[in-house]
Amino acid sequence: MWPAHGMMRTMKSVLTKFVSKLRGSKPVTYREVWNSFSNLKEARQSIYNEADADAFDQGGRIDADFICRFLEPDAAVMDIGCGIGRVEQFLAPHCKSLVGVDISERMIEEARTRLSHHDNLSFRQNNGGDLSICETAEFDLVFSFFVLQHLEREDAFRYLEEVRRVVKPGGRALLQFPLVPSAYFDESFLADVTGRPPYHVARPRLYTPSESVFFLVKAGLFPQDLFLRGSESVFLCTPSRPDRAGFHKMARMVDPATAMRLWGECLPAPALATDGERLLELSDLASAAGDPIDGDGSLRLEALGERTVVLGDDAWTDYRVDIELQLDAPWEEDRFPDIGIGLRSYPSDGAVAGPYVQTTMGHAWIPRVRKGEWWDDLPFTSGRSLEASREPLRLTLVVDSDWLTLYDENGWVFTARTDRRHGPPFLRLVDTTVQVRAFQVSTLA
Ligand SMILES: C[S@@+](CC[C@H](N)C(=O)[O-])C[C@H]1O[C@@H](n2cnc3c(N)ncnc32)[C@H](O)[C@@H]1O
Repeated sequence: MWPAHGMMRTMKSVLTKFVSKLRGSKPVTYREVWNSFSNLKEARQSIYNEADADAFDQGGRIDADFICRFLEPDAAVMDIGCGIGRVEQFLAPHCKSLVGVDISERMIEEARTRLSHHDNLSFRQNNGGDLSICETAEFDLVFSFFVLQHLEREDAFRYLEEVRRVVKPGGRALLQFPLVPSAYFDESFLADVTGRPPYHVARPRLYTPSESVFFLVKAGLFPQDLFLRGSESVFLCTPSRPDRAGFHKMARMVDPATAMRLWGECLPAPALATDGERLLELSDLASAAGDPIDGDGSLRLEALGERTVVLGDDAWTDYRVDIELQLDAPWEEDRFPDIGIGLRSYPSDGAVAGPYVQTTMGHAWIPRVRKGEWWDDLPFTSGRSLEASREPLRLTLVVDSDWLTLYDENGWVFTARTDRRHGPPFLRLVDTTVQVRAFQVSTLA
C-alpha cells in the first residue's frame, strides 16, 4: 500500500507550521524548513505523516521492498533526500553499498544515530542543489521519494541532470513525482497558483505524468515503466534511449502531443537508418505512376486534379520511406499545391478512403505549401521556404504497427498513431507538379 494520501495532507500542515515559525527571519530556505523539527516525532511527521514509529517503519519496509524489485546483486545505491533513513533501514541489507544524501544536517544526524549498525550505509550532506559530492557513474541505482516535489522546478530539473550524471551507463533510477490531476492535490494546486497559504518554499509542486516524463527525457533519463501508487507516480528510468518498443511503452504514459514531441527527442531519424530489405525504388514509383524517369534520373509527376499513387503490398507492416522532392508549381492564389505521403487504412477499396490521421484536407499527412511557406495550421511547421529556396525537400516516413512518423531534414516531426489495418504507403498529388529525385522504401531492420 502506498500511504501517500494521508501523508501529504499532514506533511503540508506540519511544514506550514514550521515555515510560519521561521518567517520572522526571511528568506526561508529549504534547509531551514527541513532542519526545523524539534524532535523525532515531528521529523517523522514532516517526512511521512506518521508520528507513530511503527507505522513510519512499515512504510519504509514497503518502499524498500518495492525498490528491491529493481536491484541487481551487489548494487551501489543512492537516495536523494533520504531524511532520517526511513527506507534505508530496510534497504541496506540488500545493497552492496547505500548512500543517503540530504540537505538537512539534522535529518542526517538522526539517520546516522538510528542506523549506525549498518556497515554498508553512509550519509552525505549536500548543498541542496546538486550532487557534486558524488562521482560520475558512481551508482547502479538512484532513487528519490517525496523530495523532487518539494523543490522549485528548476531545482528538481538540476537534480535530474545530476542523476543522469551519477548513474552508471547501464544503471537505473526510480523517481517519484506527484500524480496530477489527483483530486488530492487540489489544495496544493491552488496554493501554488495563487501564492496563498499553504504556499511556502517546500510546498508540493505538481506534475502531470506528461510533464514528469518530459522533464525526465529532457534531463536524459528515459522512463521504462510507470507505477501509479495512490496519488503518486514512480518512474523507472534509464540513461539509454529506448528502442521503438520502449518508446511505444513510454508514449502510453503521456498525452498524444507529448508523445509526438518526444518521438523526435528519443528516436531521431538517423537512429532509424535501416539496412533492411529494399522494397521499392524510384523506377518502381515511375512504373506505378505510369511516368518515365527523366534523363537526369528524376521523375516528374504531373498532377492535374487529384492523383494518388499507391505503392507496394498490403502485407507490409514496418517500413521506411525516404523521398526527396522538389516542388515545381507556379503559384496561384486560389490553388494550393498539396503533397501527401501516408497510409491507406482500407486498401481493399483501392482508394485513399480512411487515412488514420485526419487533417483538414482528410489526408494522412499533407504538408501544404503556400507561397514560400509551410501552411501553419498543421501540427508541424518547418519555417522553411520551398519556393524561395528552390531546394529539394527530403522526407523520411517511418511506419510500424503503432506509429507513423515523419521527419524532415530540419528534424521537424509529425507523429500519429496508426493501427494494425494500415496499408502500404501512398503518394498523393493535388494540383501540382513535383520532381521526385530519390525514392526508396525499405523494411525496418
Ligand atoms: C518528505 S522528506 C522525504 C524523506 C525520504 N525521502 C523518505 O521518503 O522518507 C523530504 C526530504 O528531502 C530533503 N530535502 C529537501 N530539499 C532538499 C534539497 N534541495 N536537496 C536535498 N535534500 C532535500 C529534506 O531534508 C527531507 O529529508
